[in-house]
Amino acid sequence: MPPVIQIRVSPTDCDGLGHVGQKQFAALFDRALWEALGNGPGVDVFARHGVWPVVRRVSAEFHAATPAGSMLDFTTTLTQLGKTSLTLQQTVRMHAGQDLVAEAETVWVCLGRDGAPAPVPDEIRSFLGARPSVRAGAFQHLLVNDVATAVDVQGDGMAVLFIHGFPLDRTVWRHVIPPLTGRRRIAPDLRGLGLSDAPASGYSIPQYADDMVALLDLLGVESCIACGLSMGGYVAFDMVRRYPERIAGLILVNSRAEGDGPAARDARDEMIRMVEQEGTGALADLLVPKLLAPESQTAMPPVVERVRTMIESAPPAGVTGALRAMKERPDASDLLGRIAVPTLVIAGREDQLIPVDHARSMAAMIPGAQFTLIPGAGHLVPLEQPGPTSRVIGEFLDALA
Ligand code: MLT
Repeated sequence: MPPVIQIRVSPTDCDGLGHVGQKQFAALFDRALWEALGNGPGVDVFARHGVWPVVRRVSAEFHAATPAGSMLDFTTTLTQLGKTSLTLQQTVRMHAGQDLVAEAETVWVCLGRDGAPAPVPDEIRSFLGARPSVRAGAFQHLLVNDVATAVDVQGDGMAVLFIHGFPLDRTVWRHVIPPLTGRRRIAPDLRGLGLSDAPASGYSIPQYADDMVALLDLLGVESCIACGLSMGGYVAFDMVRRYPERIAGLILVNSRAEGDGPAARDARDEMIRMVEQEGTGALADLLVPKLLAPESQTAMPPVVERVRTMIESAPPAGVTGALRAMKERPDASDLLGRIAVPTLVIAGREDQLIPVDHARSMAAMIPGAQFTLIPGAGHLVPLEQPGPTSRVIGEFLDALA
């Protein structure tokens, strides 16, 4: 289990309005971590090993106010472990009621006495427990086709399966899913991405589709509305082709049906080389400007940071696996005219990867499909415009019901 630390908000933690402000929250996140270490290997665990952790990157999101006197539960989980760095995710919930009030992701690097990066002490690894520790919390891990797969399942009713894009994770839907009450919302991390395990091999679009169907089996879901973002759409198409009885409706978000042409395949090879030789940070530098609309890049720093962190912390084996899977993916164009379930196509007006006209023509080829254009968004509408995205999906689902 990840360590849970309770901290009561004192008046000295609060700003003039009587709430914990951003700066004070950073201090509380820090305190919760050191308290957790104090209850485990000791606050001197780094010093004992001759290293010191320094923060390389922090991103935080705040969801609710926390007045003085509130008792907060801080949970710290290790989500990514490198040789010299570790990524910690901290969530804060109200002790009574468990409402989520804030979350933060922090990348730490261990430095030796000479100031150079040094290995993360084994004691820290075993205390925070690389993969097992993240198996508790708001999501669960299920063994899907022998891969520990992180999945959020919320609510009851018609099942809606949210499949994220590349090289992201289920949290792209974080602000889209909560308003869609009255449905069973299922959001997994595909194998190799997010907090799912990343086997060395075994990546293909049909394999992801098999995983999704195995997940539905485990959850006792006979059929679902498959909602796929970009690569998630490629997976949804494969489910339509090979498991039509499991798909009652389709939502294609910033996606397309064609397979890769020669130039796209070369670009995949170049990205594989980049990740293998330079790491996921280089991939983030390349992709962030393409994934987000130019305006989102200047006006939405937390979204930029979130996307960057997701890419940087994605396991390299999962990232290169996904690139090979997309490069080899089957062309789904032949399916379009034969799709017999209600379909919604959503496009971002500023999508630099899949032009609007392309998405519009795809919708026109699917019998009866509805097309919606979301302004103020690029390739990642669920992150750039979560409110409108959620509303459009909600209206589509209401009409099905
Ligand atoms: C995605 O967002 O999933 C990717 O852009 C898909 C792709 O690279 O084809």
